Amino acid sequence: MNAQTDSSWKGIILAGGAGTRLHPITLVSSKQMLPVYDKPMIYYPLSTLMLGGINDVLVISTPKDLPRFEELLGDGSSIGVKFSYAVQAEPRGIAEAFIVGRKFIGQSNVCLILGDNMFYGKMDFLRNALKRRAGATVFGYPVQDPKRYGVVEFDSTGKVLSIEEKPARPKSKFAIPGLYCYDNRVVEVAGSLEPSPRGELEITDVNKSYLKAGELHVELLGRGMAWLDTGTPRSLLEAGNFVASIENRQGLKIGCIEEIAFRMGWISVTQLEHLAMAMKGNEYGMYLKSVVDEQGFMSGR
Ligand code: DAU
Repeated sequence: MNAQTDSSWKGIILAGGAGTRLHPITLVSSKQMLPVYDKPMIYYPLSTLMLGGINDVLVISTPKDLPRFEELLGDGSSIGVKFSYAVQAEPRGIAEAFIVGRKFIGQSNVCLILGDNMFYGKMDFLRNALKRRAGATVFGYPVQDPKRYGVVEFDSTGKVLSIEEKPARPKSKFAIPGLYCYDNRVVEVAGSLEPSPRGELEITDVNKSYLKAGELHVELLGRGMAWLDTGTPRSLLEAGNFVASIENRQGLKIGCIEEIAFRMGWISVTQLEHLAMAMKGNEYGMYLKSVVDEQGFMSGR
């Protein structure tokens, strides 16, 4: 299989923050390390980047939690990914990721995903967005409670009229998920932002800047996509139940980074087998072994 990698894009997973909405669960442990059914939460956003073809990834977290992510993910060589790590000293806003990650980004385009965002469905929407080399692409997803999110408003022709962060009176039902694709100019844009009244460098202000320049593309995600939230104890449980339902029905795993690395052509079947052996004796390892065993059968899909 030919390796599917898009080297003009780098990825950032932002996995810091205080996690106060999940206290006491997150009093001592990182939110993005919590289990979502059978794997740590961060596997899901990581798998989204991987399915987009991105295998050069910076993980940003708090000074306290970053070493645990390094322990969990290592240098990435076993799954054909290159991980770098950087500290965000204080949760000064999502857009600070581009300031913390400036050196890592270099001259590349960059795709940012929040460490607590989960996507399930065909990833063509992301692959298509990554074909666009200039400007910014964000997504719109219909939700019942848009007030909790960044919200995008369109006119009848689909032209974006406004973007607002957690508006008291949302102008549409389309939330902007925590997955953002930017050209290299984002580093400059983030560097010129002023903190919002709540003291954060807002990702919504980055998007507004691209909108003003006429360079913001908003793609609506279809009904066949699931964008799941893990922000409250209830939504965290629901996300876990969702993963369990699909996995137990299909016998296929969601967000299994070793399997994705193999299917992307980043590791060989022998390497996958080694990973399976290292986890033999548990359900996850048995699943990896089944992917090894069934590769002939599955490769036609
Ligand atoms: O989930 C999508 C939403 O994410 C977007 O619709 C909003 O426009 C965007 O502002 C964001 O809203 P949230 O209310 O979810 O943001 P929150 O402050 O909870 O941060 C999201 C994740 O990013 C969270 O897991 C912690 C992490 N984070 C956040 C901040 C502000 C950091 O690692 N560092 C930070 O400085």
